[in-house]
Amino acid sequence: MTAFTRAIVRPPAANFAQGLTSVDLGKPDVSLALEQHARYCAALEQCGLALTRLPADARFADSTFVEDTAIVTDRCAILTRPGAASRAGEVAAIEPVLRGKFERTHAIVAPGTVDGGDICQAGNHFFIGISERTNAEGARQLATILEQEGFTSAAIDIRGVDGILHLKSGISCLGDNRLVLIDALAARAEFRSCEIVRIAAEESYAANFLRINESVIVSAGFPQFESRVRKFGYPLIALDMSEFRKMDGALSCLSLRF
Ligand code: GLY
Repeated sequence: MTAFTRAIVRPPAANFAQGLTSVDLGKPDVSLALEQHARYCAALEQCGLALTRLPADARFADSTFVEDTAIVTDRCAILTRPGAASRAGEVAAIEPVLRGKFERTHAIVAPGTVDGGDICQAGNHFFIGISERTNAEGARQLATILEQEGFTSAAIDIRGVDGILHLKSGISCLGDNRLVLIDALAARAEFRSCEIVRIAAEESYAANFLRINESVIVSAGFPQFESRVRKFGYPLIALDMSEFRKMDGALSCLSLRF
């Protein structure tokens, strides 16, 4: 498992509720979202990460979801090219920050599109979701860059899988060769070399979680999954994500970890 020491975060801006969403859970309360974000940052620090806290950026209502702007690894950073037009400018805002922290940066270029939320790292292997946001050309470019950097990858087409915006809405890596998957993805051949932990259908939102060093950060309110994680023996931190969920966001979306 990659050891993480740092993370980049950005709080939601006052116009957070004007961001993109595909779910019908009501408007987020921005004050509560800010409180939840503060607890999220505290949890990352509790796991040993030093945070770079970027200022809120109201030019982009979805800009708190920094994960979509880049893929960060222990070797390089890869600037993405988000698939939603309203989010395209977010990459320029994160680029100088990443150039200051990584010796090598790469970039996805037109006509490729990639959202970081579609990319799931499992050791030296990456699963690249092809979705409404990440197109086949973006996936191809990313696979080439990853190969140059000594990683392997596999593309997973998630178009048509109900209820997930990004690949990581339905899969997270628990570490120790274990992947947590929603039922709709569990039978895919690409995951066969891993131990599969299936998530109950009624808890599918919990499929997005963070393994940070020894600990696992989960979304609060999913007792079956919490119990599984505890049985595996990982220290667990549960965070209320209600306001981010309303905007199609989840735990991994709120940070870049490296
Ligand atoms: N609201 C997050 C996204 O749609 O990208």
